[in-house]
Amino acid sequence: MRKEEAAPRIPVHVAIIMDGNGRWAKRRGLPRLKGHQEGAESVRAIIRACRNAGVKYLTLYAFSVENWVRPRAEIRGLMMLLKRFLSRQEYELHENKVRLRVIGRLADLPPEIQRELKRVMKATERYDAGQLILALSYGGRAELSDAVRRIARRVRDGEIEPGDVDEKAIAAHLYAPDVPDPDLMIRTSGELRISNFLLWQLSYSELYFTDVLWPDFREPQFREALAEYARRHRRFGDIE
Ligand code: IPE
Ligand code: IPE
Ligand code: MG
Repeated sequence: MRKEEAAPRIPVHVAIIMDGNGRWAKRRGLPRLKGHQEGAESVRAIIRACRNAGVKYLTLYAFSVENWVRPRAEIRGLMMLLKRFLSRQEYELHENKVRLRVIGRLADLPPEIQRELKRVMKATERYDAGQLILALSYGGRAELSDAVRRIARRVRDGEIEPGDVDEKAIAAHLYAPDVPDPDLMIRTSGELRISNFLLWQLSYSELYFTDVLWPDFREPQFREALAEYARRHRRFGDIE
């Protein structure tokens, strides 16, 4: 790169809707779980790619509140893969001083998975080189209703006044209030929707949609998304 060229703008926080595992498998005549398995490899690759690129926060939509309607066997398979992912990833989290967090209704998950997640979250809570945030049993509307319920309780208990309920107060009651809003939101597999992901936090994120299916989304594809982000012009309501 020439000296006078500005360094590429790197997003601080990238959030990803990892979609298309089922279709990836179907195209190959494989069971859906194989797609999820290959998708888990993409997760590992993208965590590494974030580290290489200097992205500090990575939020991955791994399981939505809506996903509970899927066949029991698929849910069981996904939970098994989550457990395997955790045990394979733990070393790397420690090695790179990355903190693991979960957003979503953790209590909905199988007790064994909850235990593992809590253990790894606790073991990594002091790390500050980066954060890996897994959205599990997550829904944007569920997050907002959970926040509003907690605010209502605090108003009832006289801790805050109704007049104090502003954007800052709402943001402070979300699942991970200290995490900055995503700069870039990526969705794979060609679907052009948000599917109840981070409804509050995405209000000014740059959106990037690609037809690539999640199991095929690796470092080169991620780099392309970062390059596109670097070309975007964020106005935040201002002119020019
Ligand atoms: C994303 O892939 C993984 C989860 C939602 C857990 P899908 O399983 O939704 O894959 P498609 O959309 O059926 O291809
Ligand atoms: C969104 O994918 C949720 C996750 C990636 C975990 P879905 O495949 O569930 O989304 P819809 O139902 O097609 O909108
Ligand atoms: Mg899908």
